Amino acid sequence: MKFHIVTFGCQMNVNDSDWLARALLARGWQEAPEDEADLVVLNTCSVREKPEQKVHSALGRLGQSFRGRPQAFAAVGGCVAQQLGEDLLRRYPFVRLVFGSDGIAQAPNALERIAAEPGLQMALLDFLKTYPEREEAWEGGAAAHADAPGPRQCFVNIMQGCDNFCAYCIVPYTRGRQKSRRPEAVLRECREQIARGVREITLLGQNVNSFGQDAGGAGMNFAELLHAVAALPGLDRLRFTTSHPKDIAPEVVRAFGELENLCPHLHLPLQSGSDAVLRRMGRKYDTERYLRIVRELQAARPDIALGTDLIVGFPGETDEDFERTLEMMREVRFESSFSFKYSDRPGVAAVNMTPKVDPQTASDRLSRLQELQNEITSEALESRVGAVCEVLFDGPSRVQSEDAAFWRGRDSGGRIVNVPLCGAEREEDLAGRMMPVRITEAKKHSLIGEKTGEAW
Ligand code: 5AD
Ligand code: SF4
Repeated sequence: MKFHIVTFGCQMNVNDSDWLARALLARGWQEAPEDEADLVVLNTCSVREKPEQKVHSALGRLGQSFRGRPQAFAAVGGCVAQQLGEDLLRRYPFVRLVFGSDGIAQAPNALERIAAEPGLQMALLDFLKTYPEREEAWEGGAAAHADAPGPRQCFVNIMQGCDNFCAYCIVPYTRGRQKSRRPEAVLRECREQIARGVREITLLGQNVNSFGQDAGGAGMNFAELLHAVAALPGLDRLRFTTSHPKDIAPEVVRAFGELENLCPHLHLPLQSGSDAVLRRMGRKYDTERYLRIVRELQAARPDIALGTDLIVGFPGETDEDFERTLEMMREVRFESSFSFKYSDRPGVAAVNMTPKVDPQTASDRLSRLQELQNEITSEALESRVGAVCEVLFDGPSRVQSEDAAFWRGRDSGGRIVNVPLCGAEREEDLAGRMMPVRITEAKKHSLIGEKTGEAW
């Protein structure tokens, strides 16, 4: 059997797709291009309207491409699968499995059964009360995705689901209640990955800061888990995502000053700079509290690079509210941000909130916000020129030149750094290696640097 996986959405999905690929490879299946695959898996996202639409167009396209190949079938996983469930099986007869984030652990076995039984369709959509451990599968299966980890980097899931019910967010409905993974299982996976050569681990969850604070909790909180993972011998870099500001504990903030391998980089979604909007979003912090956390983080680790998520056009957002968001951006000086126009998602509280912001106003706000972000990003990158940092390389840069081989990696702050190797050094393979680099130039979204020591 040949399979192909297409991944939409967040890093959780990227990680799920990787595991599914490895589990299928372990069963003797082979990865293949989409038009040669017997099985195409769409791992989907429904956090906003746009990614959900992409799933329907992908399904339409698949329907066409399956026409001459009656044995080929599709599976739909992730958030759209959980949201639309068996409707997908009815609407697209070539879809023979739907699975949610709790059901994925059973998906490889289900796919084997479906491949063997013509006409069988299955749904794995039940939410479980505890974190569903998955079978171990290590070999092969790296997702082709912009967020895919480089060689010697990996994600490790520490929890699933979310209990926050922010007014705009569909995730608690598509991923279910928060379920922490057992700390021993997290540590076992981290150890195994390091033994296999991984040097950078990103701990993953919808809200990692409340790790352990649910029925699956085993008496270890997130700060303790961070210390335990950071202490594993051989781990060069540790990151985690995503954090909710209301739950970030002082011990986690302090960890940035205490743990040498914890990268000075934090994604801390602000969503809005207006206290009134934050209240209606149900975020349970205000801008004063957010700024206090930022100051504490900067005190613990002065070089910390902060990133964020922002929504414009949340119901009732006024021009003044939006100005507050711009002010917060100027105050915190996020090095990067993901920004979105609010879109109604089925079942969330904000659907019933009024007045809706008209789409043109929301678009204008988004452009202004992104313009400001570009300015701040440029200045932040510019200020790195002259600094020496350690870069972990993913692979060759997209853009190459006549007289040098360019390698692309990231510094510990998560900034993209491209480094040319000239002359005899052109033959060097930097993928998965670290090297000291002096930053020589700032581009719009990345840095250029020069080698200042040997790679290791
Ligand atoms: N509309 C727009 N953006 C949203 N996000 C989540 N739900 C919505 C929505 N309904 C954004 C938030 C979140 C990111 C993953 O997606 O900023 O942090
Ligand atoms: Fe998209 Fe959220 Fe689901 Fe991730 S958890 S795939 S971001 S809806």
